[in-house]
This record gives sequence, structure tokens and C-alpha cells, in this order.
Amino acid sequence: MSCPPFRVEQLTKAHDRSAFSSDSEPLNRYFREQVTQDIRRRVATCFVALAGRNRIAGYYTLAAASVLLTGLPAAMAKKLPRYPTVPTVRMGRLAVDQTFKGQGLGGALLADALTRAARSDIAAYALMVDAKDRNAANFYQHHGFIPLPDTHLTLFLPLATVR
Ligand SMILES: CC(C)(COP(=O)(O)OP(=O)(O)OC[C@H]1O[C@@H](n2cnc3c(N)ncnc32)[C@H](O)[C@@H]1OP(=O)(O)O)[C@@H](O)C(=O)NCCC(=O)NCCS
Repeated sequence: MSCPPFRVEQLTKAHDRSAFSSDSEPLNRYFREQVTQDIRRRVATCFVALAGRNRIAGYYTLAAASVLLTGLPAAMAKKLPRYPTVPTVRMGRLAVDQTFKGQGLGGALLADALTRAARSDIAAYALMVDAKDRNAANFYQHHGFIPLPDTHLTLFLPLATVR
């Protein structure tokens, strides 16, 4: 499906978040009520896709994270140094406004997050996501994400594959 021309920018106070409405009410509420606090406290950054006259069509958040070496698939873990944890970037939230669903924007925002994480000056082994349910996990698996062994809803994609 074609992706209309969206611009991706870091969220600022100038953006109007009030009309954003995805299928997920918790993700809408977080975006309206909490995201700016998280940004101020430096526990997340947020990027928005803008359509037309600055209408917010989608958003995602990123934060530094880590995963236990023993939590990764054994074949991957054995190629990594024996530190207890492995640095990652977590995409905590991703949502697309209902008006813009099914136009490729979710996939484009995922690609934007992967590129941003892969080109950072701070090393991270993988982008991790916490899917809110099985349907969201299917979306990430569709894009090549691998479920962490012993979990259903945490998935990751090694950033070396992105570069
Ligand atoms: C999940 C969500 C982000 C998808 O956004 P979208 O813009 O509608 O998705 P896209 O149009 O970019 O879809 C890209 C591809 O993923 C596929 N896809 C979309 N949703 C899917 C799902 N639930 N399971 C499997 N594949 C899915 C599409 O078929 C498409 O495939 P193609 O590239 O082979 O044609 C959006 O529906 C949403 O905001 N949902 C509510 C919040 C949510 O579930 N967030 C997920 C993180 S918790």
C-alpha cells in the first residue's frame, strides 16, 4: 500500500495533540496527557508523523533500555560479550490515527524508529517493542521482529540488520 507524504518530527509544544485518535484509548490518553511529562523527565522522546497542515497522523516513543543476555535466543547470545545485560532501544508506544490506518504509516514509523536507533552515536544492539496484545505482536512479526524466548509480547530486531 502506498504511504502518502508524511513528515516526521520530534514532538514539541507547538504540535496539537488534542485531536489524535487511534484504535487504542490507552495510547491516545498517554499521548494527550502524559507524553510531555515523560519528555521533560528524559524518560522518553516522542516523534510524530504530520500530514497536510500539521495534523498528527501517528506517533512513537523511544527510550534507552536493556535486555538480559540470558533472555536472548541462545544462538544470538553466544555471539555477544559475556556482560549480564545488552544495551537496546525501546519503542514504548506506537500508534496511528484511525483516519490514516492502512496507508503504510505504521510501517513507515517503525522504519523511522529503526533508522534513528541504528544511526545513534550511542550503541544499541536491538530495537525492542512491547506489543500491547497478540494483534500488535503480529504487526511487529510481520516486519521481521523476533519474540524474546519465554515472552509473548516483547519482541526485538537486531540493529545490525538495519544498517
Ligand atoms: C498497529 C498500527 C500501528 C498499524 O498501523 P498502520 O498504519 O495501519 O499499518 P500499515 O498500513 O503501516 O501496515 C503495514 C503492514 O503491516 C501489516 N499489518 C498491519 N496491522 C497488522 C497486524 N495487526 N498484524 C499483522 N500485520 C499487520 C499490513 O497488512 C501491512 O502489510 P504490507 O506492508 O505487507 O502491505 C495501527 O493499527 C495502530 O495504531 N493500532 C492501535 C495501536 C497499536 O496496536 N499499536 C501497536 C503497538 S502496541
